[in-house]
Formats: sequence, structure tokens, C-alpha cells
Amino acid sequence: MKALIVCVSVSHGNTRRVAEAMGEVLEATIAEPEQVEVSDLDRYDLVGFGSGIFNQMFHPRLRAFVRALPKQPRGNAFVFATSGFPPQLWPMTRLARRAGFDVLDTFSVRAFDTWAPLRLVGGVNKGKPDAADLDAARAFAAGLRARVTAGA
Ligand SMILES: Cc1cc2nc3c(=O)[nH]c(=O)nc-3n(C[C@H](O)[C@H](O)[C@H](O)COP(=O)(O)O)c2cc1C
Repeated sequence: MKALIVCVSVSHGNTRRVAEAMGEVLEATIAEPEQVEVSDLDRYDLVGFGSGIFNQMFHPRLRAFVRALPKQPRGNAFVFATSGFPPQLWPMTRLARRAGFDVLDTFSVRAFDTWAPLRLVGGVNKGKPDAADLDAARAFAAGLRARVTAGA
């Protein structure tokens, strides 16, 4: 199975850590949107899209990348995020579906957040994602892997 994780992680590297845990299980290539050759997306059995949440939205670079993809039938995908508070994942799911992906599942985890007002109190969710969160990310990836290989 060939997997790609498209990830933007600019604040604390939280999303990158989650992507790497998933990537171990999926043996995935992890790339920033700007590193992805759009015509290569067809080569993957599974593509993940993840970032932190900023002002209640996925990172603009990830949104712009998915929004600009030519609409055509595509393969399996998943969506994930790290955030200070429970995020809304559906906007990215919708963008990926509009691009033609079959979005199999979503994953999110609370993570260290020092967004402006929270910085005054030292941030929230210090130390997260922690080992248990990364284990949950690996378990999520294992479930996806099983689904994709069963359907192959
Ligand atoms: C400018 C800014 C805005 C943020 N806005 C939100 C938000 O609206 N909701 C939320 O739950 N977390 C918010 N966060 C927290 C980030 O989503 C969280 O720290 C995330 O794990 C960052 O991922 P990264 O380290 O991979 O970039 C914000 C953080 C920053 C710096």
C-alpha cells in the first residue's frame, strides 16, 4: 500500500508528530503541500490531509492546496487535525470530497496551544500530543490500513 500524508505544522510541530506516528504504520511519505506533485496523487492508495486549527479553520496553505486540486475521481483519503479545542473537521472533509477523494475517516487530538490569550496562562494542553495520543494516531492509521488493503 502506498500512502502520502500532506501536512502543515507551523506552530509547535504538533501535527507533524501525529503525522509521523501515522506515517510509521502506513509507511507513508510525509510532505508539505508545496512539495506535492499534484499529478502524482493518483499513485497513492491513501492520502491524508492534516494541520493545526487556526481561528477555527485548517491552515490556509492546506485549504488552498486541496481547494485547487482539479476535480476528478480519486482514491481514499483521511483528514486529521491537532488543536487546542475540539475542531470542526467537516470543512476539510468537504474540500477533499469535492476534489474527488473518498474520505474514509477523520482523526483529531488536543494539542499544546499558545494562541494569543492562552499565552498569558502558559498555554493549554502542555505536553500534548503525548505518548497515548500518538498511540491513538497509530491505532487510527492501522484501522485505515486494514480497510484500504481489504478493499484492494
Ligand atoms: C494563531 C493561532 C490560532 C489558533 N486558533 C485555534 C482555534 O481557533 N481553535 C483551536 O482549537 N486551536 C487553535 N490554535 C491552536 C492550534 O490549533 C494548535 O496549537 C495546533 O496543535 C497547532 O498545530 P501545529 O503545531 O502542527 O502547527 C491556534 C493557534 C495559533 C497559534
